[in-house]
Amino acid sequence: MEVLERTINGSSTKIYIGSGLAGEINKYMEKYGGNITFVSSALRKRYSTKIKAISSTKSFMMDGERAKSTASLNTVFRKLISRSVERDSSISYMGGGTLGDLISYAASVYKRGVNLLGIPTTLLAQIDSSIGGKNAINFMNIKNAIGTFYNPEATFNDTDFLLNSGPEMLRDGIAEAIKMALIKDAHLFNYFKDNDLKSIYCAKSLEYVIKRSAEIKLDVVSEDFFDSKKIRYLLNFGHSIGHALESYSDNAISHGTAVANGMILESYIAYKAGYSASLHEEIRDAISRYNIPLINFKDIKTDKLIGYMQNDKKVEHGKLNMVMLAGNGSASIGEIEFQQLRRYINLYRDHI
Ligand SMILES: NC(=O)c1ccc[n+]([C@@H]2O[C@H](COP(=O)([O-])OP(=O)(O)OC[C@H]3O[C@@H](n4cnc5c(N)ncnc54)[C@H](O)[C@@H]3O)[C@@H](O)[C@H]2O)c1
Repeated sequence: MEVLERTINGSSTKIYIGSGLAGEINKYMEKYGGNITFVSSALRKRYSTKIKAISSTKSFMMDGERAKSTASLNTVFRKLISRSVERDSSISYMGGGTLGDLISYAASVYKRGVNLLGIPTTLLAQIDSSIGGKNAINFMNIKNAIGTFYNPEATFNDTDFLLNSGPEMLRDGIAEAIKMALIKDAHLFNYFKDNDLKSIYCAKSLEYVIKRSAEIKLDVVSEDFFDSKKIRYLLNFGHSIGHALESYSDNAISHGTAVANGMILESYIAYKAGYSASLHEEIRDAISRYNIPLINFKDIKTDKLIGYMQNDKKVEHGKLNMVMLAGNGSASIGEIEFQQLRRYINLYRDHI
């Protein structure tokens, strides 16, 4: 078992990584009284032993994007009040990033903040959404419209959840882990280049990927917890194009696929704009090793894609602030005009 510990925004947060972490989880449950764990209904059958092993009261919930709603939030608050959950109890979740975002938000506002413990069960949730204190629900079709910054006291990344659900489930998480590698850790990116979906599907490899990705995310967020210094924005590599691809396809392209393909095109743009040597082909080869579909940008209309990018939060004075890869393991933020962006995207379409 690995344990990472950081002080972020003045409070300590611990991340446990390993297999069968119920013993560690229950030590926290014993610290508090009246604990409640919200468990994804999707885990009920396959992980019944793991669920039973946690010593708190359980409440099952549907998860997925629709769970990040005011209706689900009301259900959570009703449950907390009917069970008389007190300020010094703990609230925890066992599920993917959607349940994590919902329950973390509820924990941050219920009685002005109760102890939060996380048991993320997807790779994406283990390396990304459970770290860094951001939580949110969606409102009026706006994703993550309402949320807070609130750190969990501890998070338990149990690789058993990943190893019993099939390697295909890892894809979105792998896209984000490759992103963490490219912006901060050349060794981790080389590891992804040397492996594939089959070879990393074991406890040892997953522990390594989770640990390094989690450390990178902790490093970035601890320097810019409230996302106000443009440091945290580095985590957006691949997301400027990625979010535009999701909107372009009306969400038919999954987030992980959109980000992965976004990284390929954004690295080409960084190369053309003089920030780095050409890395896009290496990134494309790495991504294709993990069964992440490659998008043929010849099928994408540049002007329509750019139209979505013009609504990006990071547009300032008519220019887009984009994460520019400087090399394997290093990135910075650069400004780019939309005219230039259009030219580079069209060049990429001609080049493939
Ligand atoms: N707060 C943040 O900083 C942050 C960062 C990145 C993403 N997010 C959010 O995370 C969410 C996506 O999270 P996600 O990818 O985990 O999606 P998810 O929560 O929708 O889970 C994906 C699916 O996997 C199922 N599932 C969960 N664990 C499983 C397991 N072990 N075995 C089999 N099935 C399992 C779920 O029931 C769900 O159907 C999005 O809402 C996104 O906005 C938040």
